[in-house]
Amino acid sequence: MYFGRIPRFSPSFSLHDAITSARLIARPPDDAPKVREFEQAFARFIGVKHAVMTPSARYAFYLILKAYGIGPGDEVVIPGLTYFAIPSIAVTAGVRPVFADVGLRTHVLDPAAFEAAITPKTRAVVPTHLYGTPCDLDAIRAIAQPRGIKVIEDCAQSTGARYSGAGGTQRVGSFGDAAYYTFGLTKNMTTLTGAMVTTDDPAVADSVRAAIDASTPAALSRSRKEAVTGLAMKVATHPFVYPLTLHPVILVGNRLGKDPIHEPFGEAEVLYPSLPTSFQHSRPRAVQAAVGLQQLARVDGLNAARAKNGRFLDEHLQHVPHLTVPEYPAGVEPIYMSFVVHHARRGDLIAALRRRGVDTTFGYMNDCSDHPLFPEFRRPCPNAAVIKREQVHIPVHPSLDERDLAHMVEAVRSACLELARTAPGRAP
Ligand SMILES: Cc1ncc(COP(=O)(O)O)c(C=O)c1O
Repeated sequence: MYFGRIPRFSPSFSLHDAITSARLIARPPDDAPKVREFEQAFARFIGVKHAVMTPSARYAFYLILKAYGIGPGDEVVIPGLTYFAIPSIAVTAGVRPVFADVGLRTHVLDPAAFEAAITPKTRAVVPTHLYGTPCDLDAIRAIAQPRGIKVIEDCAQSTGARYSGAGGTQRVGSFGDAAYYTFGLTKNMTTLTGAMVTTDDPAVADSVRAAIDASTPAALSRSRKEAVTGLAMKVATHPFVYPLTLHPVILVGNRLGKDPIHEPFGEAEVLYPSLPTSFQHSRPRAVQAAVGLQQLARVDGLNAARAKNGRFLDEHLQHVPHLTVPEYPAGVEPIYMSFVVHHARRGDLIAALRRRGVDTTFGYMNDCSDHPLFPEFRRPCPNAAVIKREQVHIPVHPSLDERDLAHMVEAVRSACLELARTAPGRAP
């Protein structure tokens, strides 16, 4: 029986991960050996010399800035379309974030916009491989390197993606001077909570490690909570459970104009009265590393399944009225963390898709170049503004099967045709 009910997301966290978590939380072993084993495996996976586990990507970014001595008086070029925590951390470190625009359909940093944002104070650039799409790293490095600008890759949404440049095909995170990743439950691989820094530079690795070693071990209660949440997500998004449980709740939310998943779980940046000044300082535990090792063994397979789904959507959603589909620059091997289309009536499109059984979201990326958190750093990024206003994330996760993909394509087409026939806000 096919229900035609498609969740926006499915977790990579598995029953095997839940069992490992339960075992290592009940009888915690020494943390250091397991964490080192995961770090070394991750460094080999990315193709770099050093990897250091950190509690979060934002703290990883902070520690990389510190390692390079980037601070007050310095500027860092950051794409306008990004997660608000990254420019927040620059500000926390006393650094001026200079926002540069992204490609309208690639969603990633436009090298020409980066070049135009450079001043004598620019010390670093953050190419963010957003939605699993690698940036044009050759172009960015060619601009940055002769000027001594550090390239700090944001791989939070692209663990495992590859880019083919002048030096051959490598995974993202191995092109810059340093890179950071994050492994929350909604990412393509998870360590419950946790993140990573990679670099070929031993001084950066040592500096990051010294800060991590000086912090207290993370509370196991946090890992326990995440493992329970991961398992609950797994059950709730199961093809037989989702249609009878979460989907009806989403439909009720739809009628009330609320998103029952995004609102309780999203990190509502608008609620920050000012910049977040604290972020999680804690040393990762063996349980996080053990789950990370299990996930690392599966991530290429999961990425390949996402990419297959993404290519199908790409092929079948061309030429749908009023819909803009993403564009992937030559030489990139995206992992399709999100499949992001644009529609001028995105609220109506999301509602119309939910009525057709397809749950979608507008995601949590912001146009930081025009955001209440950064009034002093406003800088026009017209493409980021359009994407922020119009983006809709079509499900692309590895659990989709061929029937789901066909159902989604039909749902998107018919929803767009329906919108083309009705006035804004009046779609039935
Ligand atoms: C592009 C990007 N950068 C940075 C981060 C921050 O990661 P963390 O929550 O581990 O600090 C995220 C979070 O999802 C992200 O999507």
